[in-house]
Amino acid sequence: MREKLVAGNWKMHGSLAENKALLDALVPQLASLKGASCAVCVPYPYLFQAQQALQGANVAWGAQNLSQHEKGAFTGEVSASMLVDFGCKYALVGHSERRALYGEDDATVAAKFVAAQKAGLTPILCVGETLAEREGNITEQVVARQLDAVLAVAGVAGLAKSVVAYEPVWAIGTGKTASPEQAQAVHAFIRAKVAEASADVAAGLVIQYGGSVKAANAAQLFSMPDIDGGLIGGAALSAEEFVAICRAAQ
Ligand code: G3P
Repeated sequence: MREKLVAGNWKMHGSLAENKALLDALVPQLASLKGASCAVCVPYPYLFQAQQALQGANVAWGAQNLSQHEKGAFTGEVSASMLVDFGCKYALVGHSERRALYGEDDATVAAKFVAAQKAGLTPILCVGETLAEREGNITEQVVARQLDAVLAVAGVAGLAKSVVAYEPVWAIGTGKTASPEQAQAVHAFIRAKVAEASADVAAGLVIQYGGSVKAANAAQLFSMPDIDGGLIGGAALSAEEFVAICRAAQ
């Protein structure tokens, strides 16, 4: 049986003081979390703070991006091995904001996925369609294309050691959460597509939903058979909200 994973994506939010208050609240409240796991993906400058605050806690941590390169003249970039140095377990790859705002194409996302795994990180592969793509009824084609790019370089064995996060772009930060049925339909599609390559990998693949998950809607979303937790943006910045969402995943 798959264990649900709830990961907070802080995006470009936080300060040393705000992070301390949030992490000091999360650690004791999530210590008793059972039957589900949780993590926070923080901006690069705060990885040391997260490592210090979460070492030995029931909360893992990770990054929101990484370079596809191992090392070299890539000014401003951060490598997978550098994330491992700071105890990261996860790295988001292909978040829609990276794809839309920073021009990350499927091949770049796939290369980042491989770089993360090569260093021992668990990539959280973000996939999802825009509103125009949904209204154009090409959601499945878009998600399939994004998955195929990773399958082409990492194979289904690579997916076995990863997490997939389905994030409909039109639900991110908008308050317009996909209905549980809408999300379940795409999650089932993702699992069926992976099952074409390996039924075992598909059965064990954790597929998170992301896009305006809140304490108020988490339990209903997580009750769907192919939704294995959530990738949380805005609500992850509130200890009360994030703890409630994690508890809904138990
Ligand atoms: O990566 C998670 C994020 O994109 C979802 O954001 O604010 O809609 O929960 P939000």
